[in-house]
Amino acid sequence: MTFTCGCRPLDQATVSTLIIPVFADEASAPNALDGLAPPADDRIRAVLGSSEMSGKPGQSLSLRLPVGAGIGRVILVGVGAAEKLTTQTVREAVAAAIRSAGPDGAPQVGIVLRSGSLAPADFAQAAVIGAHLATFATDSYRSEDARPIRVETLDFLTATPDDRRLDEAIRRGSVIGESINFARFLVNEPGNRLTPTDLAHHAQEMANEVGLQTEILNEDKMRDLGMGALLAVARGSAEEPRLITARYAAAKSGGETIALIGKGITFDTGGISLKPAENMEKMKYDMAGGAAVLGAMRAIAQLKPSVNVIGIVPSCENMPSGKATRPGDVVRSMLGKTIEVVNTDAEGRLILCDAIAYARQLGATCLIDLATLTGAIAIALGLRYAGLFSHHPALVADLQAAARAADERIWPMPLDIEYRELIKSDIADIKNVGGKYGGSIAAAWFLREFAGDIPWAHLDIANVAWNTENKPYLPKGPTGFGVATLAEFVLARARR
Ligand code: BES
Ligand code: MN
Ligand code: ZN
Repeated sequence: MTFTCGCRPLDQATVSTLIIPVFADEASAPNALDGLAPPADDRIRAVLGSSEMSGKPGQSLSLRLPVGAGIGRVILVGVGAAEKLTTQTVREAVAAAIRSAGPDGAPQVGIVLRSGSLAPADFAQAAVIGAHLATFATDSYRSEDARPIRVETLDFLTATPDDRRLDEAIRRGSVIGESINFARFLVNEPGNRLTPTDLAHHAQEMANEVGLQTEILNEDKMRDLGMGALLAVARGSAEEPRLITARYAAAKSGGETIALIGKGITFDTGGISLKPAENMEKMKYDMAGGAAVLGAMRAIAQLKPSVNVIGIVPSCENMPSGKATRPGDVVRSMLGKTIEVVNTDAEGRLILCDAIAYARQLGATCLIDLATLTGAIAIALGLRYAGLFSHHPALVADLQAAARAADERIWPMPLDIEYRELIKSDIADIKNVGGKYGGSIAAAWFLREFAGDIPWAHLDIANVAWNTENKPYLPKGPTGFGVATLAEFVLARARR
């Protein structure tokens, strides 16, 4: 869903829902909000002095205003101390407020621009992203009662409505927010509704909309290119594999070509090394890395940074069958390295290693891959931080800065040479699993083998791509993790 955003003077608040951020230090000042967009209201004054609205982050309070006030409902949202306001707090407060208004609640939203110590533009970008996150519905297949939260307009109410920087931030927030939701849509689709062929179609359609060049490779083309690792995963499935490429060519660039590579397993049963039934239904989200790459490419195409970017998504299903790869099989990757497939459930690295080789063939000078690669990353880092692996310190620093700007959390993990032992094979160049310990590191080392000396980083997002618990600002389901970080990374690279 898209909605129109703008800025308006404070006294022009005719909206169905007015969101007013309340700072912690205002709790004891009942008149703090007088003179802002809503008419001074006794109930607002009363509640401001009380413990119901102390301004703590996460607090929210909805009040209906009298008919004639020009505003249907005011939602006060706590955002903490003004001098400590963060974009994350703004994003979550706005998302929670809009979600709390429910399906009927918020077609015309106004937000009083009270940015505390934040730049007004940063406040606006975060608020717009929050509003977009709030409108995404995870229950699109319900026959009845499927009523997504609708936002038609979103206006910032401010004393300085004619600010170019605000307009730009709002535009950036809209593009990033919509692109995150595009990725969430893809991830939410069940395996029967999103096969590799379907994923390619969605990518194609998106690319046509925003002006990216695509190239979709089929099985024959993969065979010509020698992608034995990708094909080894695909062969167990009745669904055809696809290798999706979407290119953004900058009008002017410094010669760098960034490749964003995303794992696109549309369903992961484990193959012959079959997964247990419990939670297997979640494995439709095994293409979340690919979705994040497509979402980022969508954003990049619209924000037009001056650097070339290629999005690459190898996509197939991991299924058991009479034709499936067996544990112990040896396959030859595009780069020529031979791989012993000890466990067919470690399929992500197999499809990614050929995608990395392909990216190199296309002339990439920087490789970033995103993948729901290992369950072990949740053991290592819990459900908050994605794992960041790289042999290139400058790239680590740049990705960390991008993640900070995007309000996503990534944590650097080790890749010392000693861990290389984990993937030594008795029969081939390498094997696709390590032992009991350091599973995420073994997986990253496998990918590192294919990156060679090109600056490369890998984000293991298996622990952050799916939100397992309903939160006021985010429903259970796909998070769109990575879209914002990748977009911020590319924008920053273009500026340097
Ligand atoms: N797609 C899974 C990783 C995963 C697990 C993602 C849980 C999201 C939630 C991946 O293909 C996989 O199965 N990895 C194995 C690797 C093992 C066989 C070395 C795993 O994590 O168990
Ligand atoms: Mn697997
Ligand atoms: Zn997988």
